[in-house]
Amino acid sequence: MSFENLLFEKQGNIAVITMNRPKALNALNNDTLKELDAALTKIKEDAGIKGAIITGSGKAFVAGADISQMADYTSEQARAYMEAAQEVFNRIELMGKPFIAAVNGYALGGGCELAMACDIRIASDAAVFGQPEINLGIIPGFGGSQRLPRLIGLGLARELIYTGRNVKADEAAALGLANKVVPADTLMDEAMSMMKIIVSKSGIAVRYAKIAINRGADTDIYKALELEKDLISLCFATEDQKEGCHAFLEKRPAVFKS
Ligand code: CAA
Repeated sequence: MSFENLLFEKQGNIAVITMNRPKALNALNNDTLKELDAALTKIKEDAGIKGAIITGSGKAFVAGADISQMADYTSEQARAYMEAAQEVFNRIELMGKPFIAAVNGYALGGGCELAMACDIRIASDAAVFGQPEINLGIIPGFGGSQRLPRLIGLGLARELIYTGRNVKADEAAALGLANKVVPADTLMDEAMSMMKIIVSKSGIAVRYAKIAINRGADTDIYKALELEKDLISLCFATEDQKEGCHAFLEKRPAVFKS
């Protein structure tokens, strides 16, 4: 599939997706969602890709769902649109590879929701986050009513969703919505250097950590601790665990295979 609304490149073992639909500030219409889905398939199927960064071109990361596309939707059409987007975002969360959102500008509505489906968010000092759907007479539909409270807590999520107030990068970081804020011109370098550290680790261990954190967050603590025990036990069946532990004992850097 060739892409018209995003750019896809591989830098070594890291994929970079740049949302690129400038006339609508990278808003996620159906075609763009399909392209994002296809880009995720490439990432999933390419064993040479260990992690991925999602960013946007121009002044937006993603300005949300495409308002002109959905303005006259029936309930049924709206449901199909939300379902398609949720399925794409869920793939990011469920894929056994890490994703960093490098949030370069407006991450509003569906854009904030896309960033929240990623494992880590690094914000440029020009980034703006928010769930302004209430201003359109709707609620978040690409996962925001669920992922925002899980990230920043119920009270703050209610405030942002009920008022539709957008927050700049510093406030987003203070709320826990962004992991950190960096100068705009260093955003991609910062995201790349964090991802390089992550992909230098055991890919299997990173995958199990992602599963333990994401699945555990929605499970009662004792079931989640069982899951953690199962997953760490499985780590002990890997060459990477032997290498990591023995490299420590031999006082040398570990070289992981997965
Ligand atoms: N959908 C479709 N088109 C959009 C868009 C969107 N979400 N956001 C921006 N655009 C378009 C504008 O209509 C405009 O197009 P024209 O030049 O043809 O008029 C172009 O992108 C540039 O936008 P602006 O002129 O508005 O740029 P600005 O710099 O003045 O403002 C902005 C930037 C504050 C991000 C403003 O564009 C904005 O508020 N956008 C909408 C943000 C929003 O409400 N997002 C939530 C969408 S609903 C959603 O996402 C629901 C969900 O959970 C599923």
